[in-house]
Amino acid sequence: MDWGMNNRISRMIKPSTGRSVMLACDHGYFMGPTHKLENPRRTIAPLAPYADALSVTRGILRTSVDPKWDVPILLRVSGGASILKEDLSDEEITTSMKEALRLNVSAVALSIFVGTDHEKQSLINLAKLVDEGEELGMPVMAITAVGKELEKRDAKYLALACRLAAEIGVHIVKTYYCEEFSKVVNGAPVPLVVAGGPKLKTEEDVFNLVHNALEAGAVGVDMGRNIWQSEYPVAMIRAIRAIVHEKANVKEAVSIFDDEKAEKSKRVESATRL
Ligand code: R5P
Repeated sequence: MDWGMNNRISRMIKPSTGRSVMLACDHGYFMGPTHKLENPRRTIAPLAPYADALSVTRGILRTSVDPKWDVPILLRVSGGASILKEDLSDEEITTSMKEALRLNVSAVALSIFVGTDHEKQSLINLAKLVDEGEELGMPVMAITAVGKELEKRDAKYLALACRLAAEIGVHIVKTYYCEEFSKVVNGAPVPLVVAGGPKLKTEEDVFNLVHNALEAGAVGVDMGRNIWQSEYPVAMIRAIRAIVHEKANVKEAVSIFDDEKAEKSKRVESATRL
């Protein structure tokens, strides 16, 4: 692999563990001011020191991420649809590779919509991006979007979508965790990271998802809402880091979360006493 490509990937997927905790903050590109991401800088700033990469669009990068922060950027370069439309799959490339290079990002990311009316459009856009990425040393991540069709999140569908992306030549895939996730991993010979999806009921549910995904062969997470919609986002990301990078089990992650939460509550209490 080309040196530049290899170096960019190694900034995000840490060579010491072969794993990664990416923080997804790109929801606004089709959802607008998502709950608890209304002010992106306020959400991202306390979490950035714990992220191996930040998933954002160029608008949020320019306005809400300090260029002096030492965190690799995973730039979303697809868009064109909003939640107001029934069909979210009609996306195009919204940010050029030249812009990605100018912003010094570590990878670009684009959603593919396998099984929708715009399947071909999204796959051809992905192929164009991979061609350009190969030429310039820029890794490409495919995101196996399922939009509003959540019932499609089974191993058969996700294995198909991830494999199609791998065949096109992507360097990383972001997908969803599902039952029999090892079938998805085994069918796609590229590193897979999992999204979290909408906020789960308990912290333990989130840690189980992360733990099971890694056990099945994922290299990490690119997770958003289950971190920053928590009342204790820093505690969440620290506990997830322990699972991903230190092989903590779910019980250990819960206790890391509880300790962090107690610390935070103490700090708030003493600040209000002053
Ligand atoms: C969709 O907006 C993006 O691909 C998100 O980055 C992805 O869904 C991960 O975020 P979450 O963990 O909130 O699902």
